[in-house]
Amino acid sequence: MPSTLLNVVILAAGKGTRMYSQLPKVLHKLAGKPLLGHVIDSARQLKPAKIVVVYGYGGEAVPEAIADQGIIWVKQTEQLGTGHALQQAMPHLDSDATTLILLGDVPLVSVESCQGLLQKAGQQLALLTVNKADSTGYGRIVRNANAGIEAIVEHKDASEQQRSINEVNTGIMAVGNSHLATWLKRLGNDNQQREYYLTDIVAMAVQDGVPVSAEITQDESQVAGVNSKQDLAGLERVYQLRYATRLMQAGVTLHDPFRIDVRGDLHAGSDAEIDVGCVFEGKVTLADGVRIGAYCIIKDSNIGAGTVVAPFSHMDQVNIANDCRIGPYARLRPGTELSAQAHIGNFVEIKNSQVGAGSNINHLSYIGDSTLGKQVNIGAGTITCNYDGANKHRTVIGDNAFIGSDTQLVAPVTIGDGATIGAGSTITKNAPAGELTISRGRQTIIKGWKRPVKAKK
Ligand code: UD1
Ligand code: MG
Repeated sequence: MPSTLLNVVILAAGKGTRMYSQLPKVLHKLAGKPLLGHVIDSARQLKPAKIVVVYGYGGEAVPEAIADQGIIWVKQTEQLGTGHALQQAMPHLDSDATTLILLGDVPLVSVESCQGLLQKAGQQLALLTVNKADSTGYGRIVRNANAGIEAIVEHKDASEQQRSINEVNTGIMAVGNSHLATWLKRLGNDNQQREYYLTDIVAMAVQDGVPVSAEITQDESQVAGVNSKQDLAGLERVYQLRYATRLMQAGVTLHDPFRIDVRGDLHAGSDAEIDVGCVFEGKVTLADGVRIGAYCIIKDSNIGAGTVVAPFSHMDQVNIANDCRIGPYARLRPGTELSAQAHIGNFVEIKNSQVGAGSNINHLSYIGDSTLGKQVNIGAGTITCNYDGANKHRTVIGDNAFIGSDTQLVAPVTIGDGATIGAGSTITKNAPAGELTISRGRQTIIKGWKRPVKAKK
């Protein structure tokens, strides 16, 4: 392939009427990321000199949501057609480059297809096409007797005979900029929709003797556009199944590849095992042999080898070492760090805390802003009172400490190594190492006390 400079133009000005939504179509999310974000990511992989996005409907909401400094944003105030959209982008393009045109609502286009298309185009014109059993609504690829491409005819302008053509324009094409510049100047809008059709450049190329080639894709989903919420949901499943397949190919066991949602990047080691209904968001790493039970939600977290997470657990921005046991129903909030072999049981909430190796917090606790040493045991129902209504304070618990059930640790407070806290205590002052500290009324017997009896009426 001649090493041509590459420009990418992404058309994203349309409203998306059939989404029935206030949100511009290209900002609807697929796998947790706006449709346009997927297209930009694919474009980036081609290492273009420039990426121009033509936006319009929804105004500044689109550039604001994408918040990407590397994009040239071009506003198309009135959506007068795909050709008009390209006319707005043209002044920003490099005169000696080839431009790849992508659509902001076609999120799954493959980088390989784009490369193939660019190779075919060189400095000329190449179209990405697909054969559709039902080609209704699409621009048809009109070929001559020698199978050479002659034109694209839009559905609304097509004759009965042209409408029977199954090969359609995906809207994705590559074109040398010197040609594009001259053809865009010649576009008119003398058609059914009174729009400036980008697709009219095909007939102009033929007229000018510039070769037009096509790359025909077999994969309909990579060129499928999103026009409705049903389309969006359909492509979400395509995306998720592909992701699940890649995970399985990397040695991950999925109990059901149809029931996993990855909204970001999930890296999982071999023999990691994921039960049904889990959602992974942001960047998540599961080391070898990690087992995730059903219906867990895990965001921006790392989980060490051999750790087992029981069902219905929730983690956000946590670091977990090897061989821990977590859940069911555990909630680990940002800043939680577990050392090896820690056990976190049901209905335990932990936030901004370090838990040392082999420590247990097995039932119904809140541990916030705390540092726990090794082999600590936290009894059921223990709460760190980290907030005084204005400020947060830390709780520090030494190695081998034993905190009896239903204890309140009022921070700031330190529990020494090997200390024991009697159950039901409210600890407001530091507890010394190695000693039993207890703070509650002593058990007494009130001799002869009688229960009240119900008064007779
Ligand atoms: C277009 C193609 C058609 C192709 C089909 C594939 C033209 C004239 N027709 O038709 O051959 O089969 O896509 O889906 O190009 N857009 C703008 N500004 C505009 C108009 C459109 O940015 O003024 C954007 C839209 O947001 C969308 C894309 O361009 O992402 C395609 O526009 P759309 O209106 O969907 O074109 P179609 O009529 O479907
Ligand atoms: Mg369309």
